[in-house]
Amino acid sequence: MVTNLVEVDQALKKFKDVTALNDVTISFEKGKIHGIIGRNGSGKTVLFKTICGFMKLDSGQILINGKKVKPSAAQDIGLIIEEPGFIGGLSGFKNLKLLASIKRKITDKEIKKTIEQVGLDPKSKQHVSKYSLGMRHRLAIAQAIMEKPELLILDEPMNGLDKYGVKEMRELFKRLNDHGMTLILSSHYAEDIEALCDTVAEMDNGNLEVLL
Ligand SMILES: Nc1ncnc2c1ncn2[C@@H]1O[C@H](COP(=O)(O)OP(=O)(O)OP(=O)(O)O)[C@@H](O)[C@H]1O
Ligand SMILES: [Mg+2]
Repeated sequence: MVTNLVEVDQALKKFKDVTALNDVTISFEKGKIHGIIGRNGSGKTVLFKTICGFMKLDSGQILINGKKVKPSAAQDIGLIIEEPGFIGGLSGFKNLKLLASIKRKITDKEIKKTIEQVGLDPKSKQHVSKYSLGMRHRLAIAQAIMEKPELLILDEPMNGLDKYGVKEMRELFKRLNDHGMTLILSSHYAEDIEALCDTVAEMDNGNLEVLL
């Protein structure tokens, strides 16, 4: 039986003269990796923001596990959309510990394990303000996955990573998926999508078309 984790139903979102989501209807099956491609400004990030409840639809609805997403309600979603606001004067571990203290779902040991998983050193005292772009990006991935969300949304997760980083992150995403996590990711790189995704849809001027 196919179980859909996310159902987007006739989603419409306009900004003045731009239609960012034009009657988008799509389902994302549980346990799969879903890819969204599309040129700059086509509506990918807006779709992700509405799924997370960060942005309200003009009309239509989005269901997660059959329940309607309400803006600003807490969801079990791990997320990278924009660079998270890390505190520059703290280490990576301390930043994640601070964020983990909101939900109190995970231990220090689990935080450290996640930092290792993304290829950073959990014992490093280096301040995040001194991190390279790729290191900050890895920390953002750690933050998104540390609480083991049911759904992981990754908006261009390979940005700023070198080819080794891209390979490591692909493997990490596959491992997370093997453990049952559902992923939705966008990428400008066709290889990411080919190598990783079970389904592919293309966003074009607010219109979403399923390709695979
Ligand atoms: N808060 C906003 N206010 C006004 N217009 C917006 C807002 N957010 C997005 N838009 C517009 O909606 C359209 C879709 O934007 P979106 O960020 O979803 O594109 P994208 O596919 O993620 O592009 P990119 O590949 O560059 O990240 C664009 O025309 C953008 O200018
Ligand atoms: Mg975007």
